[in-house]
Amino acid sequence: MRTICRESALQPKLGVETGPAAIRETGIFKALAQLGRDVRDYGDVRPDLIDPDPPLHGMRNWRNIHSYNLKASHRYGIDNVDITLADRVKQVIEDGKLCVTLGGDHSIALGTVYGHVLASKKSVGVIWVDAHADINTPLSSLSGNVHGMSLSFLCEELEDYHPPIPSWEWPDPCLTADRIVFIGLRDVDPLERLAIDKTGVKAYSMHEVEQLGIREVARRAIEDINPNGDRAIHVSFDIDAIDPVVAPCTGTPVPGGLSLREGEYLMEVIHETGALEALDMVEVNPLLGSGEEAEKTAQAAELLILAACGRYRGGNVPLGVTDL
Ligand code: ARG
Ligand code: MN
Ligand code: MN
Ligand code: MN
Repeated sequence: MRTICRESALQPKLGVETGPAAIRETGIFKALAQLGRDVRDYGDVRPDLIDPDPPLHGMRNWRNIHSYNLKASHRYGIDNVDITLADRVKQVIEDGKLCVTLGGDHSIALGTVYGHVLASKKSVGVIWVDAHADINTPLSSLSGNVHGMSLSFLCEELEDYHPPIPSWEWPDPCLTADRIVFIGLRDVDPLERLAIDKTGVKAYSMHEVEQLGIREVARRAIEDINPNGDRAIHVSFDIDAIDPVVAPCTGTPVPGGLSLREGEYLMEVIHETGALEALDMVEVNPLLGSGEEAEKTAQAAELLILAACGRYRGGNVPLGVTDL
């Protein structure tokens, strides 16, 4: 029997809600401005807490996660606290901007991917960079944590494997398996592996990263989800894809991850495609470690975001400057 979770946070380990503040504090806005990016902080999307929120089919905090990401009401409050995450992402994409969403745990991808698909003029392909596959259904999950289920709700091919969820205005899944690719896997539950095999989602685990090198993995992954170059790219980056030596402050660390160099290279190459429309940076939890470790983790997230936004490790000439 699973125990009933009484915490009001969206997952059992507290602190992941402070990730965005830690990333904002790295100086990322200044660095983005130096790259010539016109940055706008759209502010926080805060949950409208529903309490109690007992599990259904073992799924914890499902009402809160649904209402935060996708709730159908469009109540644009004065300070915008009532907007859902999907609405906010949709707004940013419609403004023609690259939408960077700071998490939060990986259940936020339900809202970011859905909002992106709603707003984009193109078909959307998702690169899921993660130690985990996050493709459990509520019934296959051993933990009941929705952050480990996001893709199963987004992927059309898995729709029939979900139990009915009463009064949950869950949207139709908005991705097909051929528009999803994993990079960095190294902790995949047995039934998640079966879901990957059955759906044919492409997966480059750490085994393939070792075998092919990050250069070939990046090339293949981009080609897999965007074979004709006419799709938009959504990168959903779980910081636990990066080795915990470099990014220790995260809820489910797994040894043997991507180096920061590999992560930065991947983001640089994705930037070069010109197709990146949305990026999630999730699972940074500053409360799970020392102050120094928290800073290190936030800095890794910052560098990955900057690379996706055009920072080149070989240096960037200041915008508009042509002479010394
Ligand atoms: N596979 C495990 C689960 O379903 C771990 C998921 C970890 N996911 C994450 N976003 N940290 O519970
Ligand atoms: Mn999590
Ligand atoms: Mn994840
Ligand atoms: Mn993960």
